[in-house]
Amino acid sequence: MRTIREPYAADAADHARWTESNRALWDTWTEVHVRSDHYDVRGFLAGGESLQSFEPEELGPVAGRSLLHLQCHFGLDTLSWARRGAQVTGVDFSPSAVGQANAIAAQADLPAEFVCAQLYDLPPRFDHAFDIVYVSFGSLVWLPDIDRWARSAARYLAPGGVLYVAEYHPMVHVLDFDEDADGPRLRYPYFHRAEPVTHDLDGSYAEPGSGAAVAGYTWAHSLGEIVTGVIRAGLRPEFLHEYPSAWFPMLPYLERRADGRYWLPARIEGECPLLFTLRATAPGAPA
Ligand SMILES: C[S@@+](CC[C@H](N)C(=O)[O-])C[C@H]1O[C@@H](n2cnc3c(N)ncnc32)[C@H](O)[C@@H]1O
Repeated sequence: MRTIREPYAADAADHARWTESNRALWDTWTEVHVRSDHYDVRGFLAGGESLQSFEPEELGPVAGRSLLHLQCHFGLDTLSWARRGAQVTGVDFSPSAVGQANAIAAQADLPAEFVCAQLYDLPPRFDHAFDIVYVSFGSLVWLPDIDRWARSAARYLAPGGVLYVAEYHPMVHVLDFDEDADGPRLRYPYFHRAEPVTHDLDGSYAEPGSGAAVAGYTWAHSLGEIVTGVIRAGLRPEFLHEYPSAWFPMLPYLERRADGRYWLPARIEGECPLLFTLRATAPGAPA
């Protein structure tokens, strides 16, 4: 269940408490996720990859390029880029996630560095060091300050480097996703507010009802706020793509169609984007 906080003047102690709660949530979820069908670690170790087909198409060749994955979870997306030849670094604030990422990298015999840190707090050697900064599905909603995120992404990019974001569309977080919801209903904020949405969760998107009861705190960021944050950070957007279907039933009422993807029910006349991708470049010429 999710609840929306009343307007409230959050202070540093609130943010510290929310961050710690979210870190504990991701430590708990990591142990569930590595065993889940959703993530399919066994398939990855057998040579599969976790990327969506449009990601390599949109980002282009990565062989020999340095790639920093912000909020890498236990590294399947990061290591998928390593399989394609990128020199990868992943950062996540969950010790459990980073531990599992290192274990999977070793099992898959893929070179990678995983760092346990807040994405804002990377060592100075990361400044302007990467050809690509990559962010993947389910990341931005956990951050209270999208401008701070965008500034960090820009700081880690080398001149001419590329920020590539492949994310759930902010509209998805607006719609009812209670398990018994039978259709899309506008229920949660679209535009940013300082107060988080509070989640009392039993299980995660990968293993609903798994018994892992946790509290989590997320923040709305509209598409306009995300793109404007990227521009304010000094990056130049090249494209913003919106996708009407997803690869898994991220909302309980999505219907699987003949293409194998999940869409809003056919009985609904209206449309709503479910995913987006954004590519933006840093100023300067690549070395
Ligand atoms: C859904 S995962 C995104 C990665 C990838 N799409 C996946 O599903 O494997 C979100 C990740 O964000 C991490 N995270 C949340 N807030 C963070 C922060 N402030 N700094 C670093 N990592 C953070 C969590 O630990 C979690 O592993």
